[in-house]
Amino acid sequence: MTAADAAALWRRVATAQHGPGYADAYAERFRALAADGQDVDGEARCVQRLLLPPARVLDAGCGTGRVAARLSEAGYDVVGCDADAAMVEVARREHPDLPWLVADLAELEPRETGGCFDAVLLAGNVVPFLAGSLASAAQRCAQLLRPGGLLVAGFGLDADHLPEGCDAVPLAVVLEVFGVAGLEPRQQWSTWGGDPLTGGDGYAVLVLRTQ
Ligand SMILES: C[S@@+](CC[C@H](N)C(=O)[O-])C[C@H]1O[C@@H](n2cnc3c(N)ncnc32)[C@H](O)[C@@H]1O
Repeated sequence: MTAADAAALWRRVATAQHGPGYADAYAERFRALAADGQDVDGEARCVQRLLLPPARVLDAGCGTGRVAARLSEAGYDVVGCDADAAMVEVARREHPDLPWLVADLAELEPRETGGCFDAVLLAGNVVPFLAGSLASAAQRCAQLLRPGGLLVAGFGLDADHLPEGCDAVPLAVVLEVFGVAGLEPRQQWSTWGGDPLTGGDGYAVLVLRTQ
């Protein structure tokens, strides 16, 4: 599968929401939220609580690079990877000093990323957008982590927390798929700030660890 094919669901959903300029619209939306005083750095702060800089972090499904950029500012050694060339083009334009890859997470290998990582971050609903390639992406994430490395993933569990056209993946399925890839759950939260996960939450943040 090409990277463009891998990003087809995301492109369809994003184009339906924002039109052909969806990548710039996505970056602009977060700029506007930040300018409005909204907290848009929860994902980066979550990583900062889990491991210290200069840990090596893969922002997997980095989009326009907003989280990778925050982590780089905080001293982490960051690589951003996304299957959608239009999203990566915005990331490259806005943060030309950082390494960005256009690649399908389900096929990414350590030789393409310059080696393994202390953490792989899947922020902003990357998990449900992986759709049919979740299992192979989970395997690749595990291979991209050093022994003891962390996978951190946040994603919506119901329609209220997902864009229209993107189906929820049940939490039990996500845990099963990552478990098969050798990643064991360490934390399960309902927010990036670490609030506990209860039965009825619409959002999950998982921290999993390689053996
Ligand atoms: C909602 S965006 C999140 C972007 C970014 N993580 C953030 O939080 O701002 C989901 C991203 O997942 C990417 N994606 C979907 N499937 C992918 C795959 N197989 N490999 C790499 N990236 C993928 C999409 O291209 C899109 O940029």
